[in-house]
Amino acid sequence: MSSAQPAGTNSTRKYQLLIDGQWVDSQSGKTFTTPNPATGETLAEVAEGDKADIDNAVAAARRAFEGKWSRISARDRGRMLYKLSQLIEEHSTELAALETADNGKPIKESSYVDLPQVAENFEYFAGWATKIEGETIPVPGEMFNYTLREPVGVCGQIIPWNFPLLMAAWKLAPALAAGNTIVLKPAEQTPVTAMELGKLIQEAGFPEGVVNIVPGYGETAGAALAAHPGIDKVAFTGSTEVGKLIARAAADNLTKVSLELGGKAPNIVFADADIEQAVNGAMMGIFFNQGQVCCAGSRLFVQADVKDQFIDRLKEKSAKIVVGDPMDKATNMGPQVSQEQLNRVKSYADIARTEGATVVAGGECPTLTGAFQNGYFYQPTIFSDVKNQMRIAQEEIFGPVVSVISFENEDDLIKQANETIYGLSAGIWTSNITRAHRFAKAIKAGVIWINTYNMFNAASPFGGYKQSGYGREMGKHALEMYTNVKSVWVDLSGKPIGWFGK
Ligand code: NAI
Ligand code: MG
Repeated sequence: MSSAQPAGTNSTRKYQLLIDGQWVDSQSGKTFTTPNPATGETLAEVAEGDKADIDNAVAAARRAFEGKWSRISARDRGRMLYKLSQLIEEHSTELAALETADNGKPIKESSYVDLPQVAENFEYFAGWATKIEGETIPVPGEMFNYTLREPVGVCGQIIPWNFPLLMAAWKLAPALAAGNTIVLKPAEQTPVTAMELGKLIQEAGFPEGVVNIVPGYGETAGAALAAHPGIDKVAFTGSTEVGKLIARAAADNLTKVSLELGGKAPNIVFADADIEQAVNGAMMGIFFNQGQVCCAGSRLFVQADVKDQFIDRLKEKSAKIVVGDPMDKATNMGPQVSQEQLNRVKSYADIARTEGATVVAGGECPTLTGAFQNGYFYQPTIFSDVKNQMRIAQEEIFGPVVSVISFENEDDLIKQANETIYGLSAGIWTSNITRAHRFAKAIKAGVIWINTYNMFNAASPFGGYKQSGYGREMGKHALEMYTNVKSVWVDLSGKPIGWFGK
């Protein structure tokens, strides 16, 4: 990354689109800027892709898929993915700084969570490239039947801003391991690290057109990609609202779709839990990444007997959270990603008050000084006396705002926990092992955490039930989304078919 400058300086970085191995301006010549959310200063000026650029990118991806990429061995695909993971590790310090500068997440998180997981995902799927196999099926008669697992083709991938580079890795790595080509559209709020990744993808040796990166707005570039008749699959992570638009657009061409959407996860504390651990887990569940996490434990169910004690401890510990300069290693929470997201969080705090919830902590923007007074910061916020039917318990806030809801017993709890349109994840804190596993079965969600929260690994599947989406990312299940199964029948008898042929 020869052009890398230290993040957080006033010099505006510039990026073009990556199409067919070339860095190009957009057809319209338009650009957009992305701010550093901690200060509001412009971080980068980026070419603004639109339908015409998406058309070019899809055409390039198709040529690569039918051409060069199809002739590259699985072993070489794996080697390129592995090389990419190594390049990411080599550049992880700069990439983490850029992620923090563009997204606002604390440098502690981008350095120790995002970047290691980005590298891990490419490394993990590098190993899969040579292990994607068909099967032989024991069919009756003198017949031989086998399956081929083939790449689906050109994949459109639309990603959000909360884990910009990690979401790119979750989508790119399995798709490339399986031999697909890609048009990736990063979120307009955070395009920077995806563009830097583009440089490393070139350096890792992927042929031109295999990965095309077209930043731009959702309503233009994103919509054009989802509706494009030239793509074979669209993968999306973002809001449930836009997920439905993607599914509708894809329906016209019957393009395959996978969706990873919103959540309103129950994080549940039973009286028999290790309360100190559960308090830490509750904070990890809601304040990590400023609460901008689809699996955030935003509904904190606490058993009535321990509720007051639990809230006191949660309040005490939350007061020690350091909100401020995300580049400072001691910071626990940076700004929200944008003014728009900050407004959304503020409006939900107002809704909570009118709905009759009680502010236990936060509920305001913090007062920061100097460069940070224009940043999009919000305090860690706890509301108690929340009822599960309230809007703040039903709608995704996507900020550092937790709703404490009390419950009496397990039956009452399971019912409330499942009363949501979402089903992405759930957490439970208890020392009762049978209860923990009963709960894991009873909850309609794709990921369950028992006495832990926010655990991820490239080998372990992640995805939703209900309106949290469909399809699984990571692990071997991700390969199912990026491969087609072809069944091949071979006659071994050499005899004519008797049915009509006599
Ligand atoms: P969004 O769903 O609008 O954006 C996510 C991605 O979709 C971005 O790349 C965006 O450019 C693209 N997009 C937007 N409209 C599109 C369209 N019509 N066609 C194709 N692509 C489109 O999310 P937004 O507006 O940034 O945030 C709103 C809320 O969405 C958040 O407050 C949060 O509740 C939820 N969200 C959930 C995420 C998750 O990880 N599940 C990530 C980001 C947002
Ligand atoms: Mg949107």
